[in-house]
Amino acid sequence: MIRLDKYLSDSGLFTRREASRLIRAGAVTVDGSPCRDPAQKIDEDAADVTANGRPVGYARVRWFMLNKPADTVSTTDGDPKSVMNLFPPELRRIGLFPCGRLDIDTTGLLLITNDGPTAHDLLSPKKHCEKEYRFTCLPLADEQVRQLEEGIALSDFTSKPCRVTLDDPAHDREHGRIAVTEGKYHQIKRMFLAVGSEILALERTVFAGIPLDPDLAPGEWRALTPAEIEILSQNHIPDTGDSHGHIETTQR
Ligand code: URA
Repeated sequence: MIRLDKYLSDSGLFTRREASRLIRAGAVTVDGSPCRDPAQKIDEDAADVTANGRPVGYARVRWFMLNKPADTVSTTDGDPKSVMNLFPPELRRIGLFPCGRLDIDTTGLLLITNDGPTAHDLLSPKKHCEKEYRFTCLPLADEQVRQLEEGIALSDFTSKPCRVTLDDPAHDREHGRIAVTEGKYHQIKRMFLAVGSEILALERTVFAGIPLDPDLAPGEWRALTPAEIEILSQNHIPDTGDSHGHIETTQR
């Protein structure tokens, strides 16, 4: 059971103050009857609530898919380049943050949520959650592809075996996909530099089994569908042991 004003502000549609004002003005109904008491306790799982005549569903946690454009940063700290500026104020108020980080020049799939525990678990190195990227790079020889796939000893860690596929290896050695299960700082750029190539463009296309929606232009976002949230919950097996591993840090 939660207070009616909290129910409305958790929906992300109103601030707590706006919710209170609407309730006192008689614009909110609970199970068909107006309720003018912001402190009224309601059952968030069962109550049928409307505000200004429109149904308001209770949203404990929210998940969005953003097609991150270049020249944006994956932070919540008020940076003018923050990806959070692509969301309207009413959604920024519900504690949304990016689930992981992409470099300032990396584009593509970034999940945005207010579900801290699930995000933490998805980013835990123990989860081996797969991320796939499309890349453009300096031409890759078969031997360099093999080295990338086997794992590269970098200054602070050795990358795990991964999949690298060139789109059209007979004619084009500069475009392909790489799927990794880690999320270390500048990982893919560092792996390519270590084998003597270089990433020229990087776009994340899949995160934890969820592909980037091709209908989203850079800068556009949408809520995850129930089926996509179900995929995340299958990836979300809470950690029982202590994890001291590195979780993706701010990358710019
Ligand atoms: N690896 C990188 O080098 N950069 C990213 O943004 C993501 C993975």
